[in-house]
Amino acid sequence: MIKIEDLVVRYGAVVALRGISIEVEAGEAVSVIGPNGAGKTSLMRCLAGLIKPSAGSIMLDAQRIGGKAAHIVSRQGVVLVPEGRAILAPLSVKQNLQMGGYNQPKAEVKASIDDMIALFPVLGRRLDSAGGLLSGGEQQMLAIARGLMAKPRLLMLDEPSMGLAPKVVDNILDALRLVAGLGTSILLAEQNASLALDITERAYVLVNGEIVASGAAAEVGEDLLERYLS
Ligand SMILES: Nc1ncnc2c1ncn2[C@@H]1O[C@H](COP(=O)(O)OP(=O)(O)OP(=O)(O)O)[C@@H](O)[C@H]1O
Ligand SMILES: [Mg+2]
Repeated sequence: MIKIEDLVVRYGAVVALRGISIEVEAGEAVSVIGPNGAGKTSLMRCLAGLIKPSAGSIMLDAQRIGGKAAHIVSRQGVVLVPEGRAILAPLSVKQNLQMGGYNQPKAEVKASIDDMIALFPVLGRRLDSAGGLLSGGEQQMLAIARGLMAKPRLLMLDEPSMGLAPKVVDNILDALRLVAGLGTSILLAEQNASLALDITERAYVLVNGEIVASGAAAEVGEDLLERYLS
């Protein structure tokens, strides 16, 4: 469904991605595992249209989306849940969710909010609270729900486990399994390899802007990960 070929991302003299190729099929959950500075966020921001590729191509089915603006890419179903969550702190939980559904028909937004409350019941209990008052885990759930409000074909998550207690991470993983089960493709960026391999079928290991290994989650061996991530 999405096919990235020889993607290069630079920030001036800094090369963040050195020509990487990644594919995600429809309905597939894939992870990109890598340490700090590997280029995970650069990859996701580039796919979301927030930064321009310096070279390479990004195809969504037969359409070239590399270099297109973020609002166009999101309308085509490629949606990013960003690193650090980017909750709009003064706005209520409900308003944050409504923002996520800005490109959906009004009538559907209400039904989608109900779906999100079913997925993350805690959000239903905090609908009128300011987003900034939620705990870290609740904010991550809100960020994921806000992304899902756009009814994405590909949901990208940039380190959703960052800074969260294992129990909260488990809740989030359960929700992502449900989302994947309904057919949404997932691209997950993580430093936490065991977590990533737990919920994705395939993984790419990204180190210093290059893919150093890839394969079925079961085949990306512990020793390999230890070599690159420790
Ligand atoms: N705006 C920027 N300007 C210059 N260099 C940048 C910028 N953003 C990222 N970089 C550099 O690009 C490289 C990749 O960074 P990126 O944030 O994509 O990595 P990451 O895998 O997401 O890391 P982390 O796990 O710490 O979030 C790093 O060397 C980083 O210093
Ligand atoms: Mg990052």
